[in-house]
Amino acid sequence: MKTLLKNIGCLQTPVGSNSHTGAAQGENVKYMNAAVVMEDGIIKEIFEDGKLPEGNFDAEYDADGCLVTPGLVDGHTHLIFGGYRQHEVAMKLKGADYLDILRAGGGILDTVRKTRAASKEDLYIKSASFLDEMIGMGVTTVEAKSGYGLDLENEIKMLEVIKDLNDRHMVDVVSTFMGPHAIPPEYEGRGDEYIDMVIDEMLPVVKEKNLAEFCDIFCEDSVFNAEQSRKYMTKAKEMGFALKIHADEIEAIGGSELAGELGATSAEHLIAITESGQKALAAGGVTAMCLPATSFYLGKTFAPAREMIEKGTPVAMASDFNPGSCPSLNLQFCINLGCLKYKMTPEEVLTAVTINPACGIGRGDKVGTVEPGKQADLVIWNAPDFEMVCYRFGSNMVKRVIKNGEIVDRRRKTR
Ligand code: NIG
Ligand code: FE
Repeated sequence: MKTLLKNIGCLQTPVGSNSHTGAAQGENVKYMNAAVVMEDGIIKEIFEDGKLPEGNFDAEYDADGCLVTPGLVDGHTHLIFGGYRQHEVAMKLKGADYLDILRAGGGILDTVRKTRAASKEDLYIKSASFLDEMIGMGVTTVEAKSGYGLDLENEIKMLEVIKDLNDRHMVDVVSTFMGPHAIPPEYEGRGDEYIDMVIDEMLPVVKEKNLAEFCDIFCEDSVFNAEQSRKYMTKAKEMGFALKIHADEIEAIGGSELAGELGATSAEHLIAITESGQKALAAGGVTAMCLPATSFYLGKTFAPAREMIEKGTPVAMASDFNPGSCPSLNLQFCINLGCLKYKMTPEEVLTAVTINPACGIGRGDKVGTVEPGKQADLVIWNAPDFEMVCYRFGSNMVKRVIKNGEIVDRRRKTR
């Protein structure tokens, strides 16, 4: 199947397969009056200045003079979950904060109860519809975590849903095991024993069934401490998993330092990151997966993304879509917050939602830029330039999405 996307007003993209940092975070190329040739799902050639390829195409798409960028990459989501937690809004209005709710057996543990009770089929249908919504908003690759099962059977159930989504839905889904997301009620007060059980009983099954590329842990005050995190991550690394860590979200208890030391692929949240944490990320080449919509929703401060860029850390932004701390899957809102709150330029922001998260989930060689040889995932925007996407907020600015070289049908997105 050979396709052509023509009449692109501006094609804006970072280049290369590696993450961008420092001044390079803001380097995008802009091809004006461009066209892109795609074959069998891969980008073949880019034309600019009104030039067009010769020959026939199975389909020709017209961008109507609009902006085109790479498909967006959402590098951090908790996409699979039972139920919702809308009742927490009223609790928060009365003054309860995120960790208070969790300590009282709610929060993540509430979603654990609902996820354990849900069938695999129900979880699939629900999360596939989230992916439909995401691709309609320009997201063509997503990372998804387990972490609401917290026992072997239910963690595997979640990971199998993630695998089915990747097999059957158009959106590419990268899988992360997050058994240590919270201490389950059966292990209350016995965090060390839970970590040992995760290491001895869960990790080998996840490995044997090949259900995850990454392992993640919530390293936080009153969840898992730095020593427990170190033990789990060291074992996961030995077993061949790549590492992620929820670090410094509320309290800085050493998570970023651990990420740097153990060579994690990414560290997540980083709202409370310290100077030494920032140095560790930069030295370890760890992607800073910043989650600005979570800061917004929790009413917290924003991660020091600008400082981290300047210190040499690749900054990515992701939705953190989950039923508690960020019930929004709108990565375009993160784009707005990237400019408004992180003080990043539009070019830095585009890098932070394309190539940098792609590298942060091990997909930098396949997606994240519009270049020959990359997967043909593109977004056509209802906008003349990316500044417009950064500026308008609350509306879906996507006109059409191209996935694997073909325009996405507005109705059918699963195989
Ligand atoms: O990344 N912080 C830990 N985990 C999720 C929230 C999960 C939840 O509240 O259900 C996060 O924000
Ligand atoms: Fe998260």
